[in-house]
Amino acid sequence: TTYTVCVIVGSLRKDSLNKRLAHGLTRLAPQNFQFQFVNIGDLPLYNEEDDANQSLPVKRVKHAIEESDGVLFITPEYNRSIPGVLKNALDHGSRPYSHNSWSKKPAGIIGISLGAMGTSMAQQHLRNILAYLNMPTLGQPEAFLKMSDDFFTEDGDIGEDSRSFLQDWMSQFTKWIALHSKK
Ligand code: FNR
Repeated sequence: TTYTVCVIVGSLRKDSLNKRLAHGLTRLAPQNFQFQFVNIGDLPLYNEEDDANQSLPVKRVKHAIEESDGVLFITPEYNRSIPGVLKNALDHGSRPYSHNSWSKKPAGIIGISLGAMGTSMAQQHLRNILAYLNMPTLGQPEAFLKMSDDFFTEDGDIGEDSRSFLQDWMSQFTKWIALHSKK
């Protein structure tokens, strides 16, 4: 069985550590998992007036989520919460009312930051939102990652120090997706 997982990165910048984490981490997944990177940078600011007439980028994101077997959120922490661009995407996908694209999609949360607390507050806030959106979210293992010089190799792989930990994280995450998928 093959599974398709949408990857949503909460940082838009080109040199994002979380983007690098997304690429390094997804390389640790089993062969039968495909990862689709979903761009949220072109979504307009959410406005409820547009619910009946959603723009093409919104429809594209909603369609990708609906077709997927689950969602992997990889996000920085901004001011002890998730970035506004990620909340914007979550709000778009939840609408129009009764057409919540996120519902029942299994999810995982991970992130890397410069601070020692490794996105823990952002992850906790995100859990709250995903609970409301009806997404069964992997509880363990948690992963709070702090950037260091050797976190990534030159080739963009996960460095030796974190590799087996993140290999296990990915193994648990993919099992979670398979468990909750209807396949
Ligand atoms: C940050 N950063 C940050 N780090 C953290 O651990 N806790 C926080 O609350 C914040 N707050 C915060 C707010 C804003 C507006 C910015 C721009 C940054 C620092 C953050 O960890 C660092 O910039 C990361 O490199 C951002 O992730 P990406 O863009 O590299 O993926």
